[in-house]
Amino acid sequence: MRTMPTTTDTGSAEFAANREAFEGLVATLRERLEFAIRGGKGRERSIERHLGRGKVMVRDRIDLVIDDDTPFLEFSTLSGFGQYGDAAPGGGIVTGIGLVHQIPFVFIANDATVKGGSLTPIAIKKHVRAQEIAEENQIGVIYLVDSGGAFLPLQDEIFPDKDHFGGSFYRQARMSAQGLPQISVVLGGCTAGGAYVPALSDEVIMVEGIGRIFLGGPPIVKAALGEVIDPDDLGGAELHTKVSGVSDYIASSEQEAYGRLREIVETTNQRRIDDRQGWIDWVEPRPPLHPPEEIYGIISADDRIPWDSAEVIARLVDGSEFAPFKPDWGTSIHCGFARVWGHRVGVIANNGIIFAESALKAAHFIELCEQRRIPLLFLQNTTGYMVGKDSEEAGIAKHGAKMVAAVANATVPKYTVLIGGSYGAGNYGMCGRGFAPRFLFAWPNSRIATMAPNTAETVLSDIRLAGMKGADTTPEEIADIKAEIRGQFETQSDPYHATSRLWDDGLIDPVHTRDALGLCLALAARQNEPAPGPGIVYRM
Ligand code: COA
Repeated sequence: MRTMPTTTDTGSAEFAANREAFEGLVATLRERLEFAIRGGKGRERSIERHLGRGKVMVRDRIDLVIDDDTPFLEFSTLSGFGQYGDAAPGGGIVTGIGLVHQIPFVFIANDATVKGGSLTPIAIKKHVRAQEIAEENQIGVIYLVDSGGAFLPLQDEIFPDKDHFGGSFYRQARMSAQGLPQISVVLGGCTAGGAYVPALSDEVIMVEGIGRIFLGGPPIVKAALGEVIDPDDLGGAELHTKVSGVSDYIASSEQEAYGRLREIVETTNQRRIDDRQGWIDWVEPRPPLHPPEEIYGIISADDRIPWDSAEVIARLVDGSEFAPFKPDWGTSIHCGFARVWGHRVGVIANNGIIFAESALKAAHFIELCEQRRIPLLFLQNTTGYMVGKDSEEAGIAKHGAKMVAAVANATVPKYTVLIGGSYGAGNYGMCGRGFAPRFLFAWPNSRIATMAPNTAETVLSDIRLAGMKGADTTPEEIADIKAEIRGQFETQSDPYHATSRLWDDGLIDPVHTRDALGLCLALAARQNEPAPGPGIVYRM
């Protein structure tokens, strides 16, 4: 494969200005991540109480379980950001992938320092999404349970619907039946619905003094039966391990419980992370020739100035080597073969508008990857499909639909990173959330919406003014209408708005993207080959 040339002038004033602006975005990201980890209203007091009870902070718990010196890929740390009056940072739950005895596991861990670890609507969405990731990538789940169950004030948004609390138990039971280990460590009160997380697990460890399981806690028992009972007598570790048998092991401390958990994992007979099944072509990985840090200076700080996504590809792929497909046709999209952490991938990256040729080229390339069983990596930076008379005459709707259909039907693993704009149906054709990429990450400069704010301002104000026909509208009123629309679209296309709602699996620093993708690809490589789809190669 050929090494990609770079036209980036790292000594230019433009590069320096872009880099400075992007470093600002990364600094904001870090600040907000820190807020999710320890911030929020009344959180300090909750943390003090938690530690005062001898309990370990949620991320430290995960660190105690996973193998030393191995990374933890955390999902959607900023879920809930700006929601619920900022009283539920991170949604009150931590999810991600870590290695235990080199076996990958999804972790679902409640953060009891946020509303007692109770499950807000976004926490439920995050819990279910983590289970979806586990099932699709065929990995077991470790539940570190410390939760007050359903967040009762919003119970109608989390209880009965598909993918609500009930859906999480459905998934848990079905994953267990598929042989994907479901293991719980009980580290807090598990009441009502919360009791079913350990009860549906294959093996359960309870920690003495802090872990409790009951269908109805002491207040409910008092109200229903008039019985006054101590929580440990009703559902403590002793009772459930030595009397009821709901729990399989008792541990006298969290540390002891994690040692036991690691012993259990050793017996689960799951494939290790490096146990490749051979269907994804793999060679020893090599870092990119061009440093990933340079991405900061490549992405234009001014969104009216375009930048070339080929420069980003060159900083993500092994050896900066890329074999382009149809390099002289449909040039607003780059398609080609490369490797990420040694795994062969087909890369599709936009440079702004998707024209009819670019859509056809992408559809053709997706089908090639499907035929050759090569995972697909989508790097989204698009304002959407081309509009206008010429484009409609050329059949853009039909050609765009071919790309959308090819993405929808590809059965090889798909991964998406929002590296810039994700507007309109471009989001769909480039494997947005609705098209089931195995993982979707976004960069802090990304934007996602039906259309860009300046376009929305024109479209919606024209519609609104047409509806007000006859009414006298002053230029000031028109300006106010436009400003309101623009403001709405700017807020809603902000990457923090998106990640807060779990439209992605996390906002990540461009510099960490290659490593995150490397882990995701390794998960697919240890799985059996997915059954191929219809396998038609478009030649248009
Ligand atoms: N819904 C809404 N808020 C809840 C909650 C729930 N299920 N469980 C706890 N919280 C909130 C509390 O209101 C409190 O909020 P604040 O920080 O704004 O004051 C915070 O979480 C901590 O709760 P607290 O009771 O002070 O903490 P604790 O550590 O002493 O006890 C629990 C934690 C989870 C054991 C206890 O709160 C509890 O039993 N909750 C109710 C459990 C329940 O009945 N769930 C039914 C689910 S269907």
